[in-house]
Amino acid sequence: MASKSTRRFNHPIPEFGIAGAGRVARSLGKLLNDRGQRVVAVASRNPSRAGDAAAFIGSGVQALTYPELASRVESILIAVSDDSIADVAAILALDLREGTVLHTSGIHGTEVLAPLTEKGNSGAGLHPLQTIATPEQGLEKLPGSTFSIAGSGRAAQWAEQIVNLLEGEMLSIASDRKPTYHAAAVMASNYVVSLIDAAVQVMGAAGVEPEVARRALAPLIGASVENALEQPAKALTGPIQRGDLQTLELHLQGLASLPSSIDQLYRSLGMHTIQVALHQGLESAEAGQVEHLLRKAKRGG
Ligand SMILES: NC(=O)c1ccc[n+]([C@@H]2O[C@H](COP(=O)([O-])OP(=O)(O)OC[C@H]3O[C@@H](n4cnc5c(N)ncnc54)[C@H](OP(=O)(O)O)[C@@H]3O)[C@@H](O)[C@H]2O)c1
Repeated sequence: MASKSTRRFNHPIPEFGIAGAGRVARSLGKLLNDRGQRVVAVASRNPSRAGDAAAFIGSGVQALTYPELASRVESILIAVSDDSIADVAAILALDLREGTVLHTSGIHGTEVLAPLTEKGNSGAGLHPLQTIATPEQGLEKLPGSTFSIAGSGRAAQWAEQIVNLLEGEMLSIASDRKPTYHAAAVMASNYVVSLIDAAVQVMGAAGVEPEVARRALAPLIGASVENALEQPAKALTGPIQRGDLQTLELHLQGLASLPSSIDQLYRSLGMHTIQVALHQGLESAEAGQVEHLLRKAKRGG
């Protein structure tokens, strides 16, 4: 078995291993390997997936099992599903001592690495605040993204080195606030996807094909996102901001024949939209009328 490398944390770590063979493991692994932090090996439960991930990351990367990885390297990036991090940490902890470990989960803080940190390893979280649907997309999107770091010590230093290598932005999040932070990330990413899906379905009810609807909505979605991020104080337009009750009434009638999840989505986002509109000058009496309308039971429901 090959010997472990010498640790030198004043300098960027020269090499590390990856636990996990999925999208984040492959994209982050390849980016770091190409930028000088050599990936020695990738581990997975499945040898052929580990082999595929190793080939994706670069030449000379070994495909190992988790126990082999723990005895091969001193620095490990864990990029497995959120629910399996603790189990993988427990396996790695059987062999790893005084090592340095990062995980890439948005929901967990350092507590999930307890099996490792209890044995003298340094552990931290490094979460890319980005959506990575494929390894190839990760290669494109991760550089320049924001990464949150939870934890301290050697592992947090390594996390900072990685963010710098990727020319990213750093956000420090306390471990006990990770669930709240992650809820925000899910709203900004997953819920935007769901909202667009719902808008396309509603367009379908107006007789527009999904492909056509997506193309037609794209400039509107783009401008709305741009406004919300760049001029939030005047980003909101539309019937709630204007207090147009008849328009809202007609919307609710139009949505009545669609799945109830869409009607509920319209109403609950409307409730928050009232708060945004109040900040933009909607009178509180009008806000009350809009709220009353949105709380009215769905027709026939
Ligand atoms: N994708 C994103 O947009 C994104 C963004 C930011 C952060 N993250 C975080 O990055 C981590 C990895 O996400 P991903 O999207 O790369 O996941 P993924 O592509 O679905 O890959 C998941 C990996 O987890 C491993 N795994 C699943 N169940 C396991 C178990 N019970 N025991 C051991 N290993 C198990 C799989 O290993 P096998 O090969 O053995 O099946 C696979 O390698 C997660 O913590 C996620 O929250 C993801």
